[in-house]
Formats: sequence, structure tokens, C-alpha cells
Amino acid sequence: MLILGIETSCDETGVALFDDEQGLLAHALFSQIDMHADYGGVVPELASRDHVRKLLPLCDQVLAEAGKTRKDLEGIAYTAGPGLIGALMVGGSVAHALGFALDIPVLGVHHMEGHLLAPMLEDNPPEFPFVALLVSGGHTQLVRVDGIGEYEMLGESVDDAAGEAFDKTAKMLGLDYPGGPRVAALAEKGRDGIYRFPRPMTDRPGLDFSFSGLKTFTLNTVNAARDNGNLDEQVKADIALAFEAAVVDTLTIKCKRALEQTGCKRLVIAGGVSANKRLRAGLEKMAAKLRGSVFYARPEFCTDNGAMIAYAGAQRLRAGQRDGERIVSVPRWPM
Ligand code: KG4
Ligand code: ZN
Repeated sequence: MLILGIETSCDETGVALFDDEQGLLAHALFSQIDMHADYGGVVPELASRDHVRKLLPLCDQVLAEAGKTRKDLEGIAYTAGPGLIGALMVGGSVAHALGFALDIPVLGVHHMEGHLLAPMLEDNPPEFPFVALLVSGGHTQLVRVDGIGEYEMLGESVDDAAGEAFDKTAKMLGLDYPGGPRVAALAEKGRDGIYRFPRPMTDRPGLDFSFSGLKTFTLNTVNAARDNGNLDEQVKADIALAFEAAVVDTLTIKCKRALEQTGCKRLVIAGGVSANKRLRAGLEKMAAKLRGSVFYARPEFCTDNGAMIAYAGAQRLRAGQRDGERIVSVPRWPM
């Protein structure tokens, strides 16, 4: 079954072609980051308009790359939510219009399920069951995964997501959006042990997270350094490192707890923050001690992309799931 996957939930237009038997045939991404950078974050109306401009050309581009035409398509999957309503509606409208014209099934899929399954596109995919840590700009969740659609929420952030904390820390340090990769790059120049930031909610049982207190702690540290007149590049790097170390430690402690609690040996990390090198290293060290293993996608499939939507959609379309005639766009949608 040849599936076209469409991702337009936020600021990346992602398109991919996935075939059940041959795997991923082609994928393309247009990032709107430069357009939104002047505003310090994503402007929803600009995002929608740019998806309108880019989506169909990208669809034709991946078809051409794979030596296929629209007529070869056997199903279409698009991100139905969660995300920006206007941006989601662009992907949903194009998916349904194409599906109607070609008379093939169409299915809206959950963006976080896409992230969760992205490591399945790699050479050594994890077997079920596994524990998944979903860490993106909008979500921080621990999920037990027993199969496609068999998800048990083990814990989640009660306030900010880990990615959001990275983005806000970046802003405090005068770095551009999106902040995660920039904070990580700055942290490389930081000195160990200059600052120690809290590891929120690790001293009590449970698998929930909270990152808003850490954000405030970071802000207070930045302000104090500025008031003392020593907020130079080195101090900024020291703060970035202390912040990153606190996030990584916190996530690692909770992942260890989740593996022990479920008895699972496999840990999957997905979502934008799973591209973070220090996080990968921390989790791998922890998992090795438990004789477990960590799985993640290549960096370009950690952040938003069409391949993960094509893959997730293919699993569900093959199982006979499809939308009715209505376009499904759900800005807030628990998994
Ligand atoms: O999954 P994603 O692309 O979009 C959402 O669904 O939210 O995640 C984006 C988030 C942003 O907050 C970004 O700063 C963060 O992932 N991010 C990173 C890194 N790369 C992206 N955070 C830390 N380290 C990175 N290398
Ligand atoms: Zn995402």
C-alpha cells in the first residue's frame, strides 16, 4: 500500500511516501523557521498561509523523487491534531481533496503517535512492548506502548513541556527560536559545576513532570547575573549547561523509574527534544545499567516531519481505519 503522509501541525510542512513493503520511498520538509524567527515564535496565520503555498509542490516533489504519480497513491494520512487549527486545516483539506479526487482512503492521525512511531523507520526498530518518552515543544509524556494504538499514559508534565522550557531558556539567554538546539550548542561551551539547578519532582514518587519551576529558577539566575554585571557569553554558557543537565537528569530519573515499574527493557525517545545529544547519552548510560536499550529516530525524524505521519497512517489504514467525508482537525487532542 503506497501512502502519502502530510504534516502541517505547526511550522514545518512535511510530506513523505511510505510503502508497506518497500518502506520509506521519499520525504521532503520545508521549515518556516526563518519566517517566524523575526517574531520570536510561530505566528499561526503566517504558518497556515505558508503551508498553503508549499504543500502541493512538496507532494509532487516526493512523488517525482520516487518515480510515482498521484494515480499510484493508495491512501493518504495527515496530521489531524494536536496543533494550530489553521495549519492543521490546510493539511486536512489537501488530504481530503486529493483523496476524493483519487477515490482512495484518507485518515487523520495523531501527531504524537507519529512522533512515537518515528523510530520504527530506522534500521533496528524496537519491538513491542516498550516505554516511550515523548518530548516535544508541547508535550512531555511517558507512555507504555504494547502495540499500534495500545497506549497507557504513565506520566506527563503538569505544566510546561521540556521543549517549551528549552525555548523559553533560549529567549532568556538572547538566543533565537527554536531554542532547543541553540541552548544545546551553547551548553557545549559551559563549565561543569558552576551552577546547580533543581531536578523538579524527582524526590517524590510518580512519573509526572513539572518544568515551570525550573524555568523560573533559570530566569532568576539570569537576572541575578545581569544585575551583578557578569552576564557574559561564558556565564550564559554555564547557565545553558546547568539548565540542560537538570532537564536531562530529571527525564533520566523518570525514565529509569518507568522501566523499573513496567519491567520493560526497551526505551523509545521521540519528539524534538529526543534529538538532544546529552539526553541520548544520559538515557543510554542509565539503560545500559538496567541491561536495556534506547531507540530513537535520526535527528530529522525527531522533529516534525511527514515520514512519521505516513508510517503511523499506513499502520492504521492497513487495519481498515479511515475518515468519513469530514476533515478532522483537532487542536487539542489527548493521545
Ligand atoms: O517535536 P517538535 O519538532 O515539535 C512539536 O511537536 O512540538 O519539537 C520541537 C521542540 C522545540 O521546543 C525545540 O526547541 C526542541 O524540540 N528541540 C530540542 C532540540 N532540537 C529540537 N531541544 C533540545 N535539544 C535539541 N537538540
Ligand atoms: Zn511535533
